[in-house]
Formats: sequence, structure tokens, C-alpha cells
Amino acid sequence: MDRPWLDKDKPVGKRVELLLAAMTLEEKIGQTHQIHQRKDWDKSLIAKGLVGSLFNASGANAGNVRDEGVNARAINELQRMAVEQSRLGVPLIFARDVIHGHRTVFPIPLGQAATWNPELVRQGAEVTAREASADGVQWTFAPMVDVSRDPRWGRIAESFGEDPCLASRMAEAAVRGLQGDDPSAPDRIAACVKHFAGYAGAEGGRDYWENHCGERQMRDVYLPPFRAAVEAGVATVMSAFHVNDGVPASGDRHLLTDILRGEWGFDGFVVSDYGIVSELHSGHGVCESLKDAGELCINAGLDMDMMSGVYLKYMAELVAEGRVTQATLDEAVRRVLRVKFRFGLFEHPYADESKTAVTMLTAEHRACARRTAQESIVLLKNNGILPLQKAKGRLLVTGPLARARAELLGCWCLDGRGEDVVPVHEAVTKAAGEGCWVKTDNEAAFGDLTPVLARGCDAVIACVGEGPWRSGEGNSIASLELPAGQVEILKMVHGLGVPLVVVVFAGRPLALPWIAEHADALLYAWHPGVEGGHALADVLFGDANPGGRLPATLPRATGQVPIHYSHRPTHRPGTYWETSGWYKDMLHSPLYPFGHGLDYTTYEYTDLAVSPESAGMAETVRVSATVTNTGGHAGTEVVQLYVRDVKACVSRPVKELKGFRKALLAPGESSRVEFVLRSEDLMFTGPDNKPVVEAGEFEVWIGPDSTRGLQGTFRLTA
Ligand code: BGC
Repeated sequence: MDRPWLDKDKPVGKRVELLLAAMTLEEKIGQTHQIHQRKDWDKSLIAKGLVGSLFNASGANAGNVRDEGVNARAINELQRMAVEQSRLGVPLIFARDVIHGHRTVFPIPLGQAATWNPELVRQGAEVTAREASADGVQWTFAPMVDVSRDPRWGRIAESFGEDPCLASRMAEAAVRGLQGDDPSAPDRIAACVKHFAGYAGAEGGRDYWENHCGERQMRDVYLPPFRAAVEAGVATVMSAFHVNDGVPASGDRHLLTDILRGEWGFDGFVVSDYGIVSELHSGHGVCESLKDAGELCINAGLDMDMMSGVYLKYMAELVAEGRVTQATLDEAVRRVLRVKFRFGLFEHPYADESKTAVTMLTAEHRACARRTAQESIVLLKNNGILPLQKAKGRLLVTGPLARARAELLGCWCLDGRGEDVVPVHEAVTKAAGEGCWVKTDNEAAFGDLTPVLARGCDAVIACVGEGPWRSGEGNSIASLELPAGQVEILKMVHGLGVPLVVVVFAGRPLALPWIAEHADALLYAWHPGVEGGHALADVLFGDANPGGRLPATLPRATGQVPIHYSHRPTHRPGTYWETSGWYKDMLHSPLYPFGHGLDYTTYEYTDLAVSPESAGMAETVRVSATVTNTGGHAGTEVVQLYVRDVKACVSRPVKELKGFRKALLAPGESSRVEFVLRSEDLMFTGPDNKPVVEAGEFEVWIGPDSTRGLQGTFRLTA
């Protein structure tokens, strides 16, 4: 066999070595080079073996601008050039930002996190992989797992929120859904966990800005979801754009090699974020030249250069000059090839063009998106007006998002289509049924006509919020208020005494103090995806429970952010309480805390048990409580476990989420919910930046959110 690496019965490691041994220096460098398919790019590089990967996305436009799309035929044509015309026939790996669904668009990742249902997120990712692969995509730049605590930062929309534990469970679910148990199956795609690491800590919530965090914050807050993704088998990692305490993440050997490979054993490859290799020179100013930047990055452990072209241009010289060893380059290439073999690209480099049409937006896929959207909607307030009654009365469905289609899909949605979306007013009209008169104002009329139409209605459903162009990459905002004018109209409606149900569509937590005080009900629907209209109607009329809980704190005002529940205790309790973390002009507490969300029923928590009360390091501690549905509706409570390490060698957060469980309960039904804590769950980063678990007292809570719950204690003994 002249291409022995094609023998699929050989182990992947062996196949990689056989291929590597056959490659020239240039062909190796080619594997580290990724190009964005722009109109004017030089396709002849493929046949020369000088391209490892192609990607197609509207990149710097933050995914808010739809591009021309992908299709299997066009991708196959390029792949044929690599497989049939290049000397060794190494297939390209085709990437795209398929962030929260392909044609079937799911809620934005922040909304998915609000489901607190990793299994549902896994199923959604599986649907996404099936659809994207049918269009020829083999690799997606998702999931984004940056723990995000500043809603001014537009990319919080793409994240799983503020908490490392919740984000970790979602990260592994997304990876498993995209890659499956057998990543070589043609309907699975490689995942890329990003942006490694600390990108969300951008000062002032400004995108691409610096993060000041030290190593402990990095390890305890930002890294856990990445580690969870690595443990779930993620194929690739994307290095971040920004600097941490002055060190560019993409040139940081400590992050990319010592921690990622050394400590965690990651054996996939690291791709840079868009063009960042060159920006270490032109932007961050840490390299004298582009060539120096290439040297720094590959030696740090960055294997594939997205778009900057620096590796392609300078790597041969760097190797010749001994600034990059042959072994370092070989290792980078080995990692890329390993992923290509694992994902079956040598066996099935081409997409099956006949599958595209029958795979997209099937009834099954829509049902999965609808359920995810239902479970993502958070009921923040309800004075009893919800659920609405069907088949009677008069409703006005109004607001700038009442008729929205494409806007409901959210940012970073390249392949979703507005025409696939049923807007809220249509979904509500259908769900309300005959006998209910549903009015809606015309396109432009959320204004002085609204109160006129509202008069005499039994309820106004006001769909307010922000469009996706205000969130996602490069879309930070300085004020978390609703866009101009919206609250004023709500005030007019409220002034008429008409019951007001406010639905907020947004890519981030917004500050909504007036609405929280005056609306009869408040629902947070994020950007809910292609089934958002239906899902909202389901929730409004009680055909589905509002299943969501906040994955990020809702502030009272912009001045409170960054705000998150898992802060460290103040050093001045007691007499200094008024000055410690409090504001003179506003309450210091959030408007709604992390984990909050109501249901159409009520729950009672009783009988907390912690056993044993004193445990050795090798033992487990069981924490359990009984949760009872005390209301008149079936419901799904999200039971949350929080822990505090009372005294430790470094100051520890006042509470940390350690587990959660969804309990489906009929009226009157009780369930005993138990969590098991191991000493590793109580680990944190000590003063020497090493992981440590310390003996001592721990407080535990089981409750419905980060501020309430039954409290107990246990002791860990050395
Ligand atoms: C973003 C990444 C994205 C990449 C490719 C960059 O601008 O930061 O999240 O995956 O573009 O589109």
C-alpha cells in the first residue's frame, strides 16, 4: 500500500506516525494553516498541501451578519482538490461557527444554560451536528464556555453564564452531543471549546479588553468548564484574543502547554482565534515582528494558525534557524492529524449531498428546539395572572419583538432563517384558540397607539428587549437599560390599569427595576431560537411550565456589575456592614439572584439531612432534602446544592454551586433529592496555585436559588 496510513485497522497513533513520516516540511506547515474562505483566496494552496483547514463564517461580524451559507457540494469540490490533487491526499477539515444550532436554531447558549438541563443541551447539540454535517461541516467552533459575570459584554449571550459548575455541566453536554460516542460517525462533528481562557473577564465588559485576573481566579473560575470539556473528550481548543495580567492567552505556554496538556492530558489540537497570531505583534505589542509572533505561539502550544498566515509564511525559516524545533512542529502536526483520523475524515472526506434536504429542520428537530426554548424561559415574577386562560377574553400582543422572526434567533446564527420562525403574535393567536380575541398592533406601532389598543384588554403581552445586533462578539453596551422608549410605553399601559405581562427577549441580563416592580408578570425569554414563538405561547397558556432558572444574576442597575452570587466575603462584617460592599444610592442585592425562577406551582423544602456530619478525605458526604409540590400545578423544580468552605488558607466564596437536579412533581407529590459530595468537589487553589482540599467546617444549602434554602453543616477531617 503506497499510503499505509489509510489502513483503518491500524491504531490512530500508528496511522499518524506513518503519515507524518511521509510529509515534507512544507506539507507539515500546511497542516497548521487555516484559511477563511473569502472570495479572493488562493485555492491553489490546497493542491500544494499547504492548507490544513478551511472555515466559513462571517467572523469579525460577530455572526450577526448572515453569510452566503455553506453547502455540501461546494465543500466537496474543495475537498476533492485536497484528496485527489495534493501529493499525500490529506483531507481538509471544514469548520464553521455553528454556535446554537444550524438550520434548527436553539436558544442562545445563555438561554440553554437557563434550562439547567444538560441532557437537553446534549440532545440539541446532537441535532446540530446532524444538520451541520449534512451541509459538509466537520468542525464547529463551539461550545463557548467563558464564565461570564459582566452582562455589558455582548458575548455573555454565547456563554453558559456566571457559574463554573453550571457551565461545566453544559460544556460536557455540548461536547458529547456534537461528537457522540463514536466521533468517526459521519453525522458527528468535532467540537472546539473556546476561548482559552479568561476572555469573559474583560475589564468594563469591553470586548477584546484585558483581564486582570490572577492564577487562582483563572483556575477556580475560568478553567473548570474547559477542563470538563477536555474530560468529555473535546477534539480542539481555541486560544483567546485577550491578555491576562499582561500575558496574551494565545502565547501563554503556561496555559496552552503546562495546564492544558501537562495537567489535563489534552491530546487534541489548539487553534488560534481569528488572526490573533499576527496581532501579538500588531495589537498586543509583545513581539517585534510577525515571525517572532509565530515563534512565540507555536512554542507556547498553539498548533493551528487561524487566518493570520504567519505560520505558513515564517515557519520554515523558524525551523531552519532552530527557533522552532522540528519536534515542536511535528507535535503540532501530529495533534491535527490525530483529530482528522479520529473523526473519520480519511474514511469519509466528503459529505453525502443527498442528505442535506431531508436532514434540516425536521419535526423531531423542531420539537427538540421547542422543548429547549420552553425550559429556557424564566418566570421572574407572577402575581397569579399567568398562566393565561384560553378561549376567552381579549389580549393585546405588542412590543418591538411581537412580530419578530429572525431577531428571535439571536446572535451567532449563520444558518437559521427568519422565515422558519413563527412570531409570538401568531403563536399566541393560535394557542389562545377561538373565543379569545387577540389583537396585535402593526409593525411600527409600539408607541402612542399601544395604550389606545390596550384599553379594554384583559391583558397586554409586551414583547420588549433587544435585538441580536446588540449582543455577541464586539457588541458590548454601557447601559443595561432597555433600549430607549420601551419602558415609557409600558408605563403608559400600566397607567391604564390593564394587566401587564412583560416578556424580555435579550442576549444578556438587563436591568429592569421598573418592570420588576410594576408588571403583573415578567418572563425572561433570551433569544429563544426557531421555536421561540411557540415555546412562549406554550408557557403563557400553561401548556408548558416555565422551566428556566437564571444562569446569571440580574442586576438592578448597570452600576452594580460585575455582579455574581459567588463572591468572597467582605473583610468587614459586623459594625462596618453599611460600608462593606453596599451602595449609598441603591440596594446592593441583585434584582433577581442566580438560580431564581418561578413555576406555576409552589415548592416546599423540608428535612435536610447531612451524613456523615464528620467525614474523612476519602469518604463522601450525602446531602439530601425533601421537595414537595405544594401548589395546584405539576411543575419541575430545579433543586440546587451550594457549599461554603467556612475557613480556609485563602478567602473562599460565600457560596458555590456544587450540584443541581430537576425534579418533576405532580401536585402534592414529594421527592427526596440527594447529592453526593466528594473531597475533590471541595478542592480549590491554594496560595501556591496548587489544588488543595482542607479539613474544617463546611456549610451546605439545598434550595431553589443562590439566596435561599435549608442550611446544614459538616466537617471534613484530615
Ligand atoms: C471569534 C471566534 C470565532 C472566530 C471564527 C472570532 O472573531 O472570536 O469565537 O469562532 O472568529 O469565526
